[in-house]
Amino acid sequence: MPALSSRTSALLVVFAGFGLASAQTFRRLGACPTLGCVFPPDQTDFLAGQLFDIRLEVHAPVNGSEASNNGVPDEKFTFCIQNGKGSCTDVTKFFKVQDPVLEKWSFSYFEDLFAKDAGTPNLVNVASKAYRGLSLTKPGTYTAKLSYNGGSSTVAKWVVRKPATKRKAKNVLFFIGDGMTQAMITAARLIAHKSVNGNYQSLMQMDQMENLGHQMTHSIDSFITDSANSATALYTGKKSSVNALNVYADSSKSALDDPKVETIAELFRRRIGGALGIVSTAYIADATPAALCAHTRDRGQSAIVVTEYLNGASAVNSTLHWPTSCEGPDVLFGGGAEQFIPGSGSPNGTDYYKAFQAKGYKVVRSNTELSAVGNKDKTLGIFSISNLAKWLDRNVLKDNLKGQKNSPTGDGTDATDQPGLKEMTIKAIDILQARSKNKGWFMMSEAASIDKMMHALDYDRALGDLLELDDTIRASIAHLKKIGELEDTLIVVTADHGHGFDVFGGADTKYLAAQTTDRKKRSAVGTYAASGSSGYTVADGMSPNNNTIVFGSQGPNFPVTWNPRYTFAAGFGANPDHREDYALQTKGPRVPAVSSADGAVANPNDKPDGFSVPGTLSVDESQGVHSLQDVSVFASGPGSEAFRGVYNSVDIFFKIADVLALGKTH
Ligand SMILES: *[C@@H]1O[C@H](CO)[C@@H](O)[C@H](O)[C@H]1NC(C)=O
Ligand SMILES: *[C@@H]1O[C@H](CO)[C@@H](O)[C@H](O)[C@H]1NC(C)=O
Ligand SMILES: *[C@@H]1O[C@H](CO)[C@@H](O)[C@H](O)[C@H]1NC(C)=O
Ligand SMILES: *[C@@H]1O[C@H](CO)[C@@H](O)[C@H](O)[C@H]1NC(C)=O
Ligand SMILES: [Zn+2]
Repeated sequence: MPALSSRTSALLVVFAGFGLASAQTFRRLGACPTLGCVFPPDQTDFLAGQLFDIRLEVHAPVNGSEASNNGVPDEKFTFCIQNGKGSCTDVTKFFKVQDPVLEKWSFSYFEDLFAKDAGTPNLVNVASKAYRGLSLTKPGTYTAKLSYNGGSSTVAKWVVRKPATKRKAKNVLFFIGDGMTQAMITAARLIAHKSVNGNYQSLMQMDQMENLGHQMTHSIDSFITDSANSATALYTGKKSSVNALNVYADSSKSALDDPKVETIAELFRRRIGGALGIVSTAYIADATPAALCAHTRDRGQSAIVVTEYLNGASAVNSTLHWPTSCEGPDVLFGGGAEQFIPGSGSPNGTDYYKAFQAKGYKVVRSNTELSAVGNKDKTLGIFSISNLAKWLDRNVLKDNLKGQKNSPTGDGTDATDQPGLKEMTIKAIDILQARSKNKGWFMMSEAASIDKMMHALDYDRALGDLLELDDTIRASIAHLKKIGELEDTLIVVTADHGHGFDVFGGADTKYLAAQTTDRKKRSAVGTYAASGSSGYTVADGMSPNNNTIVFGSQGPNFPVTWNPRYTFAAGFGANPDHREDYALQTKGPRVPAVSSADGAVANPNDKPDGFSVPGTLSVDESQGVHSLQDVSVFASGPGSEAFRGVYNSVDIFFKIADVLALGKTH
């Protein structure tokens, strides 16, 4: 808490009240602790020229601990903006815009868990105005002041950071290992790289990057983030709320009228006109890829997200104009055919492959088609319904690809010919390079199932996908070198949040399975000296610098044996009731817990020979959840020294924007 010594005791009482309110589980509106809300809120930094909307709200709670004004919100609120030490100028004059019509609505929320149990929400009436598509070009500090209720005010300090004027890199290759922590990287190194007497004979590619930093991942209004919110921070330099994509969460019902902020992809298009690539092993409307282009309060609006990829945010709410867009990414590769096959998941039930083709896209739907397609056209690659298969199932346990009926064509066959992250990323580089040799390109490539498999407590599949990410980074560096672009490409590798995963010992899976009681099974877990050494065998004699790209093969840098008797023992900081036997889940991704009348319970079909681990989460959760820890940032190439040190997630946006000189008027 900041020092409050100069304030009156009356104010102190008020402040203490807000302090309590902002710490609880349920809040009226996360980033608005007072009855007057300003979005972008206090402590927002902007890139010079970055577009954003302003949303003002004045709240009058009808009941509950904050009840005020008999539930009638002040409709005569005013809003002014002051640059530096200048005078506070009315927003309409400051931005030379018309005053918009006053909007009014009400919403309700639960004050705490008791109110939720009792089913008694508080009702809040709202008066609001929104100013759209604005920007601040002059670096410096700004004070934005909302005045309401005859003397109350909410003040937001905004900073326009001084932008870099010299562009350092032509291209940016931005890798996200979704949910990837240093503990996972350490575990992946253990199983995929040979160690002799405590010395690794080869290293992860991430271990060999030029610069290392770490970033704080928390939300604007909660300490644990989701992937929508954290991607928004990475791509816009703005913290937001869980489930929000490139908007601040307002209190109105519509998910499409919340105040927007411009993303790095939109800025790169608008200011430089370079090529844009989006690659993910998730369904392509999932949060981490969506956050490059989409603007919605609700990440679950998958049809809206693909509409926004193709036509921009203005296309999904005809009453609101958003003067920037991704203009259709040059490359869009991932899963999620359910948003393209005509049906309940596609925009208005239409054939969205056709919608992309009508805008000049080539469409590919298998690894074979991907490697055959030319490099000159915009390309949509959708390789399965839902998320793509995990590396382990694609490469080792291939029978698990059968019986899925997940072909991206929608013909009910299996998507057995799927590319991996490496194949998609290398092809994307070639297309972006062919389409934008001079202006450069920006690509985000996401290893999505590190997160998805950690949620499922499926350590092996998560680490398989982490190793695939590492292999993709290695192959990308080699490929960029081959085509002469490595020196001009900034490569950044990071995560969007963590999971509370770590390895704490070894396990003898054979002994564990042979015991009959939970307590005896646990003696198969060896700690300290008894943790032993890795039972995984890895490809032998492979130079760590052998950058040969072997499409469609396991290649080096992966374990040869995935199911050794002596394996690692790992656990989570947060988990549902489940069982552990530490053996490889051979039959496709793990389902650790299932719902029952009594909430989530251990899945009786998951590791029946294992011992029980009691849950630490609400029984509403049948999976693991995200955790608080900072995550690593690895960077190589021009401008990468800026990524050293400890910083906030939002700083990554500014660092990349500066390397591309996106804050400069071109
Ligand atoms: C607040 O008022 C609304 C509308 O009258 C009502 O539905 C709700 O239960 C009230 N909440 C409390 C906590 O009294
Ligand atoms: C579009 O924006 C308007 C104006 O803010 C809002 O009232 C409306 O609900 C939005 N439409 C949709 C479909 O969300
Ligand atoms: C569905 O069609 C309507 C009317 O043509 C359009 O306004 C809306 O944006 C479409 N929805 C999606 C998700 O494309
Ligand atoms: C790299 O390793 C592969 C085997 O994975 C081998 O075929 C190739 O010849 C090696 N290349 C170099 C340059 O050593
Ligand atoms: Zn997650």
